[in-house]
Amino acid sequence: MSRIFFDNAATTPIDPEVIAAMTEVMTKNYGNPSSIHSEGRSARAIIEQARKTVANALNCSIGEIFFTSGGTEANNMALKNSVRDLGVTRIISSPLEHHCVLHSLDAIVASGSARVEMVRIDEKGSVDPEDLKAKLASSDEKTLVSLMHSNNEIGNLLPMDEVAVICEEAGAYFHCDTVQTMGYFPIDLDATNVSFLSGSAHKFYGPKGIGFVYINNDNIIKPYLDGGAQERNMRGGTENIYGIVGLAKAMEKAVAEREVRAEKISSLKRYFIEKLTATYPEVTINGNPDQSHFKVLSVSFPESDKGDLLLMNLDLHGISASGGSACSSGIDVGSHVIGHLHPDSKRHTIRFSFSHHNTTDEVDVVVEKLGGML
Ligand SMILES: Cc1ncc(COP(=O)(O)O)c(C=O)c1O
Repeated sequence: MSRIFFDNAATTPIDPEVIAAMTEVMTKNYGNPSSIHSEGRSARAIIEQARKTVANALNCSIGEIFFTSGGTEANNMALKNSVRDLGVTRIISSPLEHHCVLHSLDAIVASGSARVEMVRIDEKGSVDPEDLKAKLASSDEKTLVSLMHSNNEIGNLLPMDEVAVICEEAGAYFHCDTVQTMGYFPIDLDATNVSFLSGSAHKFYGPKGIGFVYINNDNIIKPYLDGGAQERNMRGGTENIYGIVGLAKAMEKAVAEREVRAEKISSLKRYFIEKLTATYPEVTINGNPDQSHFKVLSVSFPESDKGDLLLMNLDLHGISASGGSACSSGIDVGSHVIGHLHPDSKRHTIRFSFSHHNTTDEVDVVVEKLGGML
């Protein structure tokens, strides 16, 4: 029996056209992009073409896109460089951010260079915009607001445009972790004033270990990695040309197929919710259903003796899902997001996350198989 992959917020399978684009460059373009000879120049041209694809997708300038090793590095760079180079002394964030943001904030606080305030989160896990406004108004300090566009565990979406306006009016920088939404939702950086955002190819059918950070032209920051002059002096190290090509191809397809994919995944999620709640009325859905990423569905099951084995039993039945976030070395240490929202709950939470490759037949199988596991 073929496996059912419902863990597409953790990662996505690489699109065959992406593999083909990468393989072609691997085969033909081994030049170092910094070399001035022909091989080097053609590698450089490939990277700059890829940068253009990303910049076009976001309606920003090519000079604002810097390739990184992924979302973690992009977020580290935005947070740490804005403290080091832009004089930020206060960061307003939320307790539901990804660990790469939360742990960067811990490191910043430990260094004594800035302090962190957490914005109020409502019972469904959404940011309270009034509290954000109040916090911004409470101090004249140079402030960076760091809030994710979609939560990777419960799917809640941030009204990015609204938060961008709030930050702009308060004179604050705005960093948005867009790792889960990049390629899924339109982002127009000409219309929306964001200081930094991040992307990671493996979340939109590209390869792992490659991503990018968008840094608004108004923000002059110094290199994150010291070394050569790569990435216009911002990130030393020979470029991951295969990854960059794969990222650009994946982005190009994500943009071209965005509506079709979104429609397919949204209706699959609706079908899953209807079927699951009709079959097991005692399940609860986490997060805010009115503002939710169509690919993420976090479900809590009632306390039961078999609950701890739920993920393992799903895996044994050929179904891949996640206990929360899969970014903590595969060990289910419990989700800080669910823990924050439901600190006393003994229910068992599973994150199902979908792709345009999934089908309603797969949903039927999962809902049926869950019966023996609860
Ligand atoms: C919201 C969010 N931010 C950042 C990351 C980290 O991205 P990467 O795996 O590219 O380091 C992830 C990965 O799960 C994520 O979901």
